[in-house]
Amino acid sequence: MIRSFIFDLDGVIVFTDRYHYLGWKELADEEGWRFDQTLNHQLRGVSRMQSLQIILDHNGLEFTSQQKDEFAARKNRYYQALLDGISTDDLYPGAVEFVGRVRSRGLRTALGSSSRNADRVLKALEIDVLFDAVVTGHDLTRTKPDPQIFQLCAQRLGDAPPDECVVFEDAESGIEAALAAGMHAVGVGDAAQLPNAEQVISEYTEIDLDTLIESGRIR
Ligand code: BG6
Ligand code: MG
Repeated sequence: MIRSFIFDLDGVIVFTDRYHYLGWKELADEEGWRFDQTLNHQLRGVSRMQSLQIILDHNGLEFTSQQKDEFAARKNRYYQALLDGISTDDLYPGAVEFVGRVRSRGLRTALGSSSRNADRVLKALEIDVLFDAVVTGHDLTRTKPDPQIFQLCAQRLGDAPPDECVVFEDAESGIEAALAAGMHAVGVGDAAQLPNAEQVISEYTEIDLDTLIESGRIR
């Protein structure tokens, strides 16, 4: 039986994944680096610094840690400027309703995001109240695909057993993290980008909640 539902934030509850992309794109364009949507998929779920490293490796570039800190800070400024304009129009359709349905069944919900901006997004959209536990990039020492993030969510949900948890993720690194934690996983978004996900939805209405609670399968 599934008793705990764990949600990633960017690309699962809210379309802030496109703002992360635009932040990196602005930095890359200024610096003359190659960066596109294909490379961007590799950044999903990955920490800010590791994302920068993936872009630099892709371009065959090396910088000092001080320079890298400056690049990461600049991207974060661009991202936060985009967050200033965030509204409920940015919510993934059906996500809030789905989390509400889960909660109305008496089941526990957690948010597990690698982002250090997650609290800001939750507050801006007033959706922090939807989660019994929140884990963000500030709590983590290891980035997805390491299972640390979801293990911490389960711990904060009162030591939920992994096989009673299901994780919703738009990132391949996040699916791998959930499976490494011994949890069930549901991919959200484009199945072609999530080869390790056993099951993928593009709309929350595709989920049969009773079946998911019973078996960890969406239908
Ligand atoms: C994840 C995003 O949720 O958070 C990544 O999928 C992002 O794209 C990461 O790099 C870290 O976010 P932030 O806000 O701490 O730079
Ligand atoms: Mg995500």
